[in-house]
Amino acid sequence: VKKLLVDVDCGVDDAQAIMLALAAPDVEVLGITCVHGNTTVENVCKNTLRVLKACQRLEIPVFRGASKPILGKTLSAGHFHGHDGLGDAPDPDAPSLEMVQKEGAVAAMIRIVSEHAGEVSLVATAPLTNLALATRMDPTFPQKLKGLYIMGGNTDSRGNTTMCAEFNFAADPEAAYIVLKDFQCPTYIACWEFTCRSKLPWEFCDAWLAQDSDKARFMKRIFQHSIEASSSERSQKEMVDGMGFVSCDSYAMAAAVDDSFVTECERVAVSVELTGSYTRGMMVLDTLDMMKKEHKAFVMKKVDLEKFKALMMAALK
Ligand code: BDR
Ligand code: CA
Repeated sequence: VKKLLVDVDCGVDDAQAIMLALAAPDVEVLGITCVHGNTTVENVCKNTLRVLKACQRLEIPVFRGASKPILGKTLSAGHFHGHDGLGDAPDPDAPSLEMVQKEGAVAAMIRIVSEHAGEVSLVATAPLTNLALATRMDPTFPQKLKGLYIMGGNTDSRGNTTMCAEFNFAADPEAAYIVLKDFQCPTYIACWEFTCRSKLPWEFCDAWLAQDSDKARFMKRIFQHSIEASSSERSQKEMVDGMGFVSCDSYAMAAAVDDSFVTECERVAVSVELTGSYTRGMMVLDTLDMMKKEHKAFVMKKVDLEKFKALMMAALK
């Protein structure tokens, strides 16, 4: 059984990634930690509980983490995910925030990973603030992890938030810098351009949402806003990347739940630009090995899209 700890800023694709993990065989989600990002950390906690409720998995503990980045501006992505992070779809039966654990996210991460040292993989689909704080609180934290799976960063200086930076890294560049420096465990990164090149066709999306289940109906409600938001940008992007929808966070999750999902990687040391006037938050790839950094990340290049479709389908069954 694969033990996972999941760190989210629960927007729509985080929700898809969580649902993918909960439906995957032989996967145990030990907890979900929440952080600022697509929306406020309070909304993130609430959204995570809503997703767990839709999956009838409210026994999984949810922890509240950082409400702001270490330095710099707090971003949000309401234009894409909806102001509340889940498409602004009304949900009168949303679970109460009382269900969030009293223990904070950073303390919980450190405790859970210590209790299962060497066995837990961490999947981070959000700004990396909680992870950076965890390694500052307990420098042995990263070495107790089995693996780290990140959705974030970019490889061709094509940003989606600033000209050059992807959202999760742009929303806390210092945290991304700390994590890429301190975490020496096997690290898989699903970057922005890679996810754009690995789209699922819109016809798949229609069939996915048309499944006869409460989970599919929930997804249809929360996904509508992003579908509309992406259709306005669609024609321009599709000329570059081809047709389809991108569930960014689900690629990092699929890599964590299925070892054979990633079929091609680039092994390279990576870091993050902190000071550039155009490039702050941009991921930097040391392909020339100038940093002489021993720890190389696995930057995802190609994945098995048929496996991805099967995992996504199962998520809403
Ligand atoms: C990332 O930013 C967020 O909006 C998504 O949830 C994803 O984690 C994509 O850049
Ligand atoms: Ca996310």
